[in-house]
Amino acid sequence: MCKPDCQDASPRRSFFKEAAAVLIGGIITLVPAAAGLFAWLDPLRRQGGAAGFVKVGTLDALPADSVPRKFAVLADRVDAWTRSPQVPVGAIYLRRLKDREIVAMHSMCPHAGCFVDYRDEAKDFYCPCHNSTFAQDGSINDPKSPSPRALDTLEVELRGNEIWVRFQNFAAGHREKRPVV
Ligand code: FES
Repeated sequence: MCKPDCQDASPRRSFFKEAAAVLIGGIITLVPAAAGLFAWLDPLRRQGGAAGFVKVGTLDALPADSVPRKFAVLADRVDAWTRSPQVPVGAIYLRRLKDREIVAMHSMCPHAGCFVDYRDEAKDFYCPCHNSTFAQDGSINDPKSPSPRALDTLEVELRGNEIWVRFQNFAAGHREKRPVV
């Protein structure tokens, strides 16, 4: 027989039961989803090296005038079931300073990860999200710039006529470059 105070306890017990069921259901659903999303968003890691070099173009496509030009970065995307060859995984800017002297910069703004545009007339990079600007060489050219560091440079290798870049993402919002692994 139920005592008078058991009427209060029953709804409380029911509430905790339901809350526990929702929590366990959420964990069961979210863990595999998060794992899948991580694999899908990180194709370079899946193909055997986030720090791997990828071919981004040839010297013929890059005049030696120091003007930054944007290049797509393509790589094979591999997930648990499929392999998609040569899909876009990012973009970089290349500057050819001399015949065989190339500088590569990531197109992502180090402030919060938006993409910067190169403005021919102003000869600078502009981030439309919070108005950071960067000089042609990627350095911060405005003391009020919200970006904590210059554009991230990337390692370049010339293999004959081909330009190869060690494509890598870096964490936004820090003064120093922190590779995302
Ligand atoms: S993300 Fe570029 S200025 Fe904020």
